[in-house]
Order: sequence, then C-alpha cells, then structure tokens
Amino acid sequence: MYNSTSFFLEFMAVRIIIGAQWGDEGKGKIVDLLSAETKYVVRYQGGANAGHTLKFDDKTIVLHLIPSGMFNGNAKCVIGNGVVIDPIALIEEIEEVKKLDVDLKDRLYISSSAHVILPYHKVLDQLKEKSRGKDAIGTTGRGIGPAYVSKVSRIGIRMIDLLNEEQLEEKIKSNLADINKALEHIYGEEKLDTKTIMASLREAISITKPFIHNTTEILHNALENSEPILLEGAQGSLLDVDHGTYPYVTSSSPTAGGACTGSGIPPLSITHALGITKAYCTRVGNGPFPTELDDEEGEKLRKNGQEFGATTGRPRRCGWLDLVALKYAVRLNGMNELALTKLDVLDDFETIKVCTHYIKDGNETHVFPLDADDVDELKPVYKTFPGWNRSTRDISSFSDLPEKAQEYIHFIEDFIGVKFTIVSTGPKRNETIRR
Ligand code: GDP
Ligand code: IMO
Ligand code: MG
Repeated sequence: MYNSTSFFLEFMAVRIIIGAQWGDEGKGKIVDLLSAETKYVVRYQGGANAGHTLKFDDKTIVLHLIPSGMFNGNAKCVIGNGVVIDPIALIEEIEEVKKLDVDLKDRLYISSSAHVILPYHKVLDQLKEKSRGKDAIGTTGRGIGPAYVSKVSRIGIRMIDLLNEEQLEEKIKSNLADINKALEHIYGEEKLDTKTIMASLREAISITKPFIHNTTEILHNALENSEPILLEGAQGSLLDVDHGTYPYVTSSSPTAGGACTGSGIPPLSITHALGITKAYCTRVGNGPFPTELDDEEGEKLRKNGQEFGATTGRPRRCGWLDLVALKYAVRLNGMNELALTKLDVLDDFETIKVCTHYIKDGNETHVFPLDADDVDELKPVYKTFPGWNRSTRDISSFSDLPEKAQEYIHFIEDFIGVKFTIVSTGPKRNETIRR
C-alpha cells in the first residue's frame, strides 16, 4: 500500500554510505546503484587513497576522488570540504569521466574549503613509511596523512587558494621552508622547489577552477528544498583515525560524524546510515585483523573475490566475517540499514564461518578492542554454516536465494539487529537484490 509518510521520508532522505570494515566493501557499487534515486552525491573525507569500482553495461570504472554518482541518473556530485584533493590526480580522473561522454558542467562541484595534496605531501608520506621499516602502516602513498597534518597545523593550502596564483606561490614557498629542512636533514633527500611545484599545478588549476564552489551553501539549500542527498564515505569504520585500529588507520573520519564535518550537513539532517559489509572480511595494508586466514581458504576468498586493491593493486588480506567488528561499526555509526556485498564469493565454499566472539587471556569477550596491540592478541571463535554450493549470480529476489544463503544472512541480521536492505551478488550494478 502507498504510504505517504515513508514516501516523504524517502524523498528527503539524507543517507550516509559507510564502509563497515577496513574499506573496499563495495561502496562504489552501492553508491552508483542508489545515485539514480538522489539529487546529490557527496564525498566527505579521504582522498585518492580510495578506489571505488563501478561496473555497468560493459564498463568498469575506478574512481578515486570524483563521487560515484556520475553514471546513473543526473545527481550533482560534490567533493566536500573534508576531502583532501590531489589536483593532478583529479584532472586525470576528470579526463577519464569525460571520455565516457559525461558532461561535468553542472554535475561536479568541488568545495573551495577542501585541502590540496601537494607533491611534498606524497614525498613525505612515502619517506615516512620507508623510515618506519617493519612497523610501516602500509599507506597508499598518496600523501593523505601529511595533507591532513598540514590542515590541522593550519598551514594547509585549500582549493580556494588555487584561484589566486600569486598568493598560492607565497604559501607554498613558506611551507617549503620547513619541509625542505625535513627533507634535507631528516631524510637526506633533495629539496623541492616552489617554481617546479607551481609549474606542475598550472594545468590542474585551469581545469579545476570552474568547478570550485561554496558547496556548504549548495548543500544547505538542497536541505532547505528537501532534496535527497547521498553522502559517500571512503575507507571504512575500522580505518577511522579515532575509532579504528590505531595507528594502523587512515588520517580522516570515515565514520558518520565525519560525514557532517566533511560536508557541512548537520547531524540532525541525517535520516539513514547505510553500512556496507562484505560477506567476509578483507584488509589491505598492515595492522590487526583477527579473522585473517593464512591458508587455502583465505587464498580462495582472494581468488573468488578478485581481492586486489583498486588503487594500488596490492593483494588484499582475506578472512571470515567478524561479527564483533561489524556490530562495533553498526553502533559507532548508528547504522540503521546494511548492504551485504560479494555474497557470490562464498558460492562454492563447503563451509562458511563467522566470528561471534573472541577469546582473550582465556576469557570470552564480545568487545572490539580499541588498541591495535590488544586486537593482535585475540583468538576468534567461529560459528560454522554449511555452504550452498550454487551460484547466486543473477538472482534478483531474496526468496530465490538458496535456503542456506538465506539462513546465513538471517543469522547475521539477528546477531547485529539490523536488516540487509541490499544484497549484492556480483560486481555489476544489476547484480543486486533490493529488499
Ligand atoms: P569500495 O572501495 O568500497 O568502493 O570497493 P572497491 O571497488 O575497492 O572493491 C570492491 C570490489 O568488489 C570491486 O572490484 C567491485 O567491482 C567488486 N564487487 C562489488 N560488489 C560485488 C559483489 O557483490 N560480488 C562480486 N563478486 N564483486 C563485487
Ligand atoms: P576505499 O575507499 C582499503 C588503508 C591503506 C593503509 C591505511 C592508511 O577504496 O575503501 P592512507 O593512504 O590512507 O594513509 O593508508 O588505510 N586504506 C584503504 N584500504 N580501502 C581504502 O579506500 C583505503 N584507503 C586507505 O591500505 O592500510
Ligand atoms: Mg576501494
């Protein structure tokens, strides 16, 4: 029956899409799918460390900075103030999108307050990683950490600064004074030169200029007009700088609070928090991972799921679904909907496991620890499910899923207390079940 209240709510939905694990949950696919139903898609944090894959028709597109709402409908795509933007990476992506016959005019809006990743941020990111040796975080090397350091130290360059080249040159020169000291004396590297950096930015400045706006104002007007908004998180809850497995995290807040600070949208405007989780777990880079499998089953997850990084090509570490971690992510973000992705990857497993709790120092624990060292000491305890040994690709209705797959999904829902409104059974846009 038509329900006018739910229609109204849906119409003015402000929905955050958040990774519930360590990133690469399939956020790009889900944002692309839902973007036909919204007016705005807003990236709110992270930078070109993200790699969001979209598959439709015969196309595969990997986006790093441009929101995943360009290809399904006509939503305006906003790169919010909380994102750190590498202008050179951005113009490469703009070119890629243009090649796919998408006109970016009136579609792409870049916040004037978003911070800029400069060549020195990338150099510092890579040098710092090298100097950490075996304790390296395994960053993507895209300059993310150092760019957020500049932002918080109040020496950052923002997109608005690209509009005044004279001032921009002055600011870069002033920043380089300190950075060159570090390069020379700490790392024994060559100094960087302001003129060379300016020259490397000129093309990017001229291409990005028309897209730079006060996006906070644009989004406030959208809220006032009750237009639906989708906020696209990058990375995942367990990589959050505050709530993740610190220090093996990224330098931003992928969790729900970050969506507000990274866009200017107030918390009380958020109507939905949709968490995305794979039917198992992956992690790329270093850091604790309680359910990681170092065996044939882990290898099979990697092979079936094509688990290689969309940004760096690194093989992703694989393991069983961790319900303690998932429940933590749900509570952290107030997730009131979930999407389950990559169910098909489990199609040919004889048995499937999920971690329901851990053993630590001989005791049962149901709490996800906040310290990386503590996570390392956990021994996961599993519940085992029989596999369904049937392809789930092309299934478009939940009731057509094999019974054992339905049981697996129902168990997770009951455990977590939140329903899967979306189940994804393949990488393509149409390989999706909506409930
Ligand atoms: P994101 O960073 O969260 O957007 O995820 P990535 O794009 O980095 O990684 C997800 C990968 O899984 C991509 O290669 C997607 O094409 C793929 N993918 C997404 N959903 C599914 C699914 O349901 N089944 C399969 N087999 N692949 C999927
Ligand atoms: P999407 O949006 C998976 C990981 C890196 C590293 C840590 C810190 O595609 O899900 P950084 O370069 O951010 O300083 O690296 O975070 N990482 C990701 N892992 N998906 C991502 O993004 C990631 N972005 C960063 O591998 O462990
Ligand atoms: Mg990714």
